[in-house]
Amino acid sequence: MAIRIDGKAIAAAVRSDVAAEVAALKTQGIVPGLAVIIVGNDPASRTYVNNKKKACAEAGIYSEEFALPEDTTQEELLALVVSLNGRSDINGILCQLPLPPHIDDKAVIAAISPRKDVDAFHAANTGHIMIGDYTFLPCTPAGVMELLHRSGVKAEGKNCVVIGRSNIVGKPMAMLLLHENGTVTICHSRTKNLKEICAQADILVAAVGKPKFVTADMVKPGAVVIDVGMDRDENGKLCGDVDYAAVEPVAGYITPVPGGVGPMTIAMLLKNTVTAAKLQNALLTDSLGK
Ligand code: GUN
Repeated sequence: MAIRIDGKAIAAAVRSDVAAEVAALKTQGIVPGLAVIIVGNDPASRTYVNNKKKACAEAGIYSEEFALPEDTTQEELLALVVSLNGRSDINGILCQLPLPPHIDDKAVIAAISPRKDVDAFHAANTGHIMIGDYTFLPCTPAGVMELLHRSGVKAEGKNCVVIGRSNIVGKPMAMLLLHENGTVTICHSRTKNLKEICAQADILVAAVGKPKFVTADMVKPGAVVIDVGMDRDENGKLCGDVDYAAVEPVAGYITPVPGGVGPMTIAMLLKNTVTAAKLQNALLTDSLGK
């Protein structure tokens, strides 16, 4: 029977720390501000954006939504990003992905000032993560690390297996575990012997986007199992990449879906927004330049 890592409770603790920091900044006349851009009508993106705005309001962070129609051109979106880069009341810029197919998301990410890049998707920030000298961390992997830290799980010397190699989760996740001295393997769709590799993991992070992909035979008894998935099962019910009912009796620690990694992503976004506000008000130094 695994210890259930309660992402909702841990996220609430992070959010309360953030709210206290925001209150302290306000006494210095600084109100952290986040711009949230959404293009088109993807229902999942709409839900994520609504949750992000609500969390900002609860933490005392100013947020401004830019909801653009599906047929927005790349030039129009880039012009908006450039204007937000120049606004002193906006410290963080988040452009919700995915974008419609006619827009090059790489170009949009590249246009965001690295100092306002609260998703940490810009190449300047991903490069800083690679060399272990970072100001912003991408919200989901940072949230996973926070869950591990606050649950007393150490990566040092452990076999850490990450399933998934996306730029948003898998790659930075592997790097953060490596920075904490884990022995890290990244698995993906072309990996041979996936089951055997996973079954050797002391810490297994599933970020594949396939419902109930991780089965009990892929989990070492006592392993820490972190589920980044937000999937739908055969009945349309929200579930993760891990078959929770089957894996929970085998694992040592496990995150549920919902209530595991998901709430942490938003909590870390708030934290990054506060970091951005400090950076832009000379309360922090970094190596990101202007
Ligand atoms: N779409 C799915 N996850 C994310 C995220 O963390 N940030 C942004 N901007 N878009 C996303």
